[in-house]
Amino acid sequence: MAPQTTPETQAGATLSLDGKSLTLPVVRGSEGETAVDVQQLRAKTGMITLDPGFANTGSCRSAITFIDGEKGILRYRGYPIDDLAQHSSFLEVAWLLLHGALPTRAELGTFTHDVTHHTLLHEDFDRFFDAMPKDAHPMPVAAAAVGALATYYQDPETEDNLRDAIVRLIAKMPTIAAYSYKHSIGQPSMYPQNRLDYASNFLRMMFATPCEEYEVDPTLARAIDLLLILHADHEQNCSTSTVRMVGSSRANLFASVSAGISALWGPLHGGANQKVIEMLERIAAEEGSAEVFLNRAKDKNDTTRLMGFGHRVYKSYDPRAAILKKACGEVIGRMKSASRMLDIAMRLEEIALKDDYFVSHKLYPNVDFYSGVIYKAMGIPMNMFTVMFAMGRMPGWIAQWLEMRNDPDTKIARPRQIYTGATQRAYVPMAKRG
Ligand code: SDX
Repeated sequence: MAPQTTPETQAGATLSLDGKSLTLPVVRGSEGETAVDVQQLRAKTGMITLDPGFANTGSCRSAITFIDGEKGILRYRGYPIDDLAQHSSFLEVAWLLLHGALPTRAELGTFTHDVTHHTLLHEDFDRFFDAMPKDAHPMPVAAAAVGALATYYQDPETEDNLRDAIVRLIAKMPTIAAYSYKHSIGQPSMYPQNRLDYASNFLRMMFATPCEEYEVDPTLARAIDLLLILHADHEQNCSTSTVRMVGSSRANLFASVSAGISALWGPLHGGANQKVIEMLERIAAEEGSAEVFLNRAKDKNDTTRLMGFGHRVYKSYDPRAAILKKACGEVIGRMKSASRMLDIAMRLEEIALKDDYFVSHKLYPNVDFYSGVIYKAMGIPMNMFTVMFAMGRMPGWIAQWLEMRNDPDTKIARPRQIYTGATQRAYVPMAKRG
């Protein structure tokens, strides 16, 4: 595990109210971030804090991922995302997130072998997929399938079983994704092949059929691996916080990750990559100009949003979006596919980044703005885009869950509230209600 630099506590912050004052400790992290530690606030004042959406609230101490939203910095265990995107692989990044250090050659070899040899799903899973409607969105299918893993691998909490559960989740997620896709198009599932690497195995399970083999294009396999690296973790986002919250009740890893998949599906979170393509296709189909669309996105009376833009933390360009924008051109060039979606996306970005509304609101492209363009260029169906996000995020969810479980400060997550409902009133019998 990485050296856990325990954040220091420094001179406190004083809260004054009604003539009384309380000094609360201030915690400073390894990158200089500071927080007022309010753990004693209610015990000492009877008051709580209120922060809908937790935009100003730290839920934990974590040593896994660091984001500086103002500077557009993203690091996994201290390694800049640009370096990992350029030099690493998804399974190496998964090991890094899980163990806090880059693996040795032997460690990576063993991990890769273990993941490769756990890609198969129990044969009974075929009946699970057969029970799903053909037009089911693959995200609820993936959430249900991951939850169902807890019925096949029961009691995953022991040391040995937990290690196997971690490998199984990373190994089987591509198989679950590909099987749900094949089921939705009425084709037989294709078994994973141990001779292939992680990304190539996924592509083959998606596009090979019993009648025709699928030769994996190394450029596409590398693009998939890059996309998985870029999605691997992102500190305390909505789905990761969900995984931590569910795990804090000591629900098992499969149940916690299943909940995270459901949270990721939301269009404001991981579901945005599908919404971006729907937005680009609508602009293309209506022959609408990017300018017209952006005016609607700025209109307070219009619910239209520029999907793939804006971020709770990044108030500058999401570094992942910059990497993906570059990769788009490479994949589209290789696939010789139309660049219409990319052209529209780049036109939207060009105008938005000069528009006062977007500049003043600090709205920049996020990871979802270009990821869908690449998936589409590869021929991955649109309703699979968020499943791809979940595949990438899997090691991050697991690493965060493990950190939560091993943190001595962890308690069951149970926020408070400010009650605004009716004060006490007497029950009225039906006869008197009219
Ligand atoms: C991901 O948290 C993570 O780390 C997530 C993620 C990860 O890796 O896990 O990075 C992945 O989820 C990326 C985000 C994908 N979602 C989208 O692209 C959907 C479009 N974006 C937004 O809906 C929004 O920007 C959010 C949800 C991403 C962030 O919302 P916030 O921080 O709650 O901000 P907000 O909704 O309060 O907006 C602040 C202002 C508002 O205007 P005002 O009322 O203050 O004048 O900015 C405006 C919003 O109307 N605004 C937008 C906008 N996003 C925000 N206006 C137009 N288009 C947009 N996209």
